[in-house]
Amino acid sequence: MQESSVTGMTRAEAREAAEDIGSNPTNGSSIGDIISARFGRRGFLKGALGVSAATALLGGTALVAPRAAQAAVMAPHMGFAEISHGVDETHHVAKGYSADILVRWGDPVVKGAPGFDPMAQSAKAQALQFGYNNDFVGYLPLEGSAEHGLLCVNHEYTSEEVMFPGAGSQDDDFSSLTIDQVDIEMAAHGASVIEIKKEAGKWTVVPDSQYGRRITTGATYMTVTGPAAGHELLKTAADPNGTLVLGTVNNCAGGMTPWGTYITAEENFNGYFMGSGVDGHPYAKTYKRYGIPGGWYGWGRFYDRFNVNETPNEPHRFGWLVEIDPMDPKSTPRKLTALGRFKHEGASVIISKDGHAVVYSGDDERFDYIYRFVSAGTYTEGDKAANMKLLEEGTLSVARFDADGSLEWLPLVQGQGKLTAEHGFPDQATVLIYARLAGDAVGATRMDRPEEVEVDLKTGKVYANLTNNTKRKADQVDPANPRADNAFGHIIEFMPKDGDHAGNSFAWDILVACGDPSVAEVGARWNPATSTNGWFACPDNSAVDAAGNLWVATDQGESWKKSGTADGIWALGTEGEARGMGKMFFRVPIGAEMCGPCFTPDGKTLFVAVQHPAVDGARDWDRFGRDSTFEDPATRWPDFKDGMPPRPSIVVITKDDGGVIGS
Ligand code: FEO
Ligand code: CA
Ligand code: CA
Ligand code: CA
Repeated sequence: MQESSVTGMTRAEAREAAEDIGSNPTNGSSIGDIISARFGRRGFLKGALGVSAATALLGGTALVAPRAAQAAVMAPHMGFAEISHGVDETHHVAKGYSADILVRWGDPVVKGAPGFDPMAQSAKAQALQFGYNNDFVGYLPLEGSAEHGLLCVNHEYTSEEVMFPGAGSQDDDFSSLTIDQVDIEMAAHGASVIEIKKEAGKWTVVPDSQYGRRITTGATYMTVTGPAAGHELLKTAADPNGTLVLGTVNNCAGGMTPWGTYITAEENFNGYFMGSGVDGHPYAKTYKRYGIPGGWYGWGRFYDRFNVNETPNEPHRFGWLVEIDPMDPKSTPRKLTALGRFKHEGASVIISKDGHAVVYSGDDERFDYIYRFVSAGTYTEGDKAANMKLLEEGTLSVARFDADGSLEWLPLVQGQGKLTAEHGFPDQATVLIYARLAGDAVGATRMDRPEEVEVDLKTGKVYANLTNNTKRKADQVDPANPRADNAFGHIIEFMPKDGDHAGNSFAWDILVACGDPSVAEVGARWNPATSTNGWFACPDNSAVDAAGNLWVATDQGESWKKSGTADGIWALGTEGEARGMGKMFFRVPIGAEMCGPCFTPDGKTLFVAVQHPAVDGARDWDRFGRDSTFEDPATRWPDFKDGMPPRPSIVVITKDDGGVIGS
């Protein structure tokens, strides 16, 4: 936004720059000279995590070259024929599988929605239709069915250059967008709930479903729950009580709860605020730590609440996890302040041994933290109303990964340590609103951009995807973030030693260090059975299958050229001799990123979300070589019709013989 940006950069540049720099100024607690200590704890980890001999070898090997013909290493549910790295205009799935388009941007969601017409878009239509840039996907079975349920989908952001006729390219700042287009943008954000059904082996969206719902930035009111509800920092002229927020933004990943609700995570909320800058402002320090105002969108030109000069408290009302009851389309979504305010990637929920709801969530920024919330109350099977109170009260902690392979959860509780009034934390609400600064104060480990933190509900193992951090210098590496200039990311595994997720005795290990294992400088670590197509870069979302494999979705952004392949889904072994072995299963079209892998409970369907086809790095594709626009996109996936723009879509994958995915 030319007028709004404090940086004078385009949105794409601002987003990239913000991610590059990070906003955490602290030095953290770890230094590079303890990196060697991590190899000394292998014996402990073997016991604690049941790691095999093959894994110990993997972990102790700085570099493993791929040996292509190692198909002898098999893991349950990884028996498919691997596809190849590459990039082209469409999607690809392993042989013997079907990948069908389930729902696309603009398809009807709410009863009475008009059909999609890219040349006659309106906010009114968009608010009833499937939104843009689908990220998280969750499946809620109806009456326990694996073939009939509600799909809960996040719409993270908008890609104007391929949405609107005449909008220009990604290099433009889109400051000429009209209020009507801004209203469409706001209606294309948020979430969708759709009813879906599998009949005669084929999934379809149930038309005119009573459950069909759109949640948007511009029109859906949400209540504020937890310690920050009604706090001074949340009060605005439009909401003098600080308890009712209009909308949600940048809903990236999320999670489904055991009690049947849907959590959507507000990630890069800072980007939606504009203003003249923060120097001398009473909020200057906290704004800076959160990158506010980001100036990626020009909404503040028309709506004062997105201009921090006009409404300085509005940014405090975003950056939360939001709980939604998909079974009741009239229900009011609830912002969960007890779980802290940061750039939430997602939320993974598990019930602890003694019944507490435990939620893991990453803060997706270079050098930011991984958090855990433990509810005060306990889960009651079958009592949804009571369970929906669980995330309103509890203890938020932040992770410190120690060199001896243990993980300490540092509680963010007002009055403890430096979390006192004299250090800027007069009450618990302030600790939660400024969770990042509280994390700084307690000495959490600064991570390489925590994306999804996924829990294997069967084994209790937790997998944290650290997507990349090219700004980490050699003197900033630590045992949990061991590579400087980490362009390809890694995956950390952790679990409670005694199986108690609410406890404080955890062990951790690095599952894989991503990137090309045949290039020594990359420092990748994979199981040697990984083929030349089996390694990947920049892990983002993931799902666990019934056999305990992690199905990893990647997001390389504009830098896909570094790996030479478009994003996709890789199955990754976590146990036994296949531990650390990747295998490529699905690939997205040019310019897209892969999101939302989600299995049905029977393991026979895998939903994946293809976000922003044609957008990222189109100019680096030799067959195109320029930026995409609405008129001239790098691909018209998935419709491939003249005049029809590329459309973010949910793809449903099934095995042609009707079996379990991967079997
Ligand atoms: Fe929206 Fe962290 O990805
Ligand atoms: Ca993500
Ligand atoms: Ca997931
Ligand atoms: Ca992403």
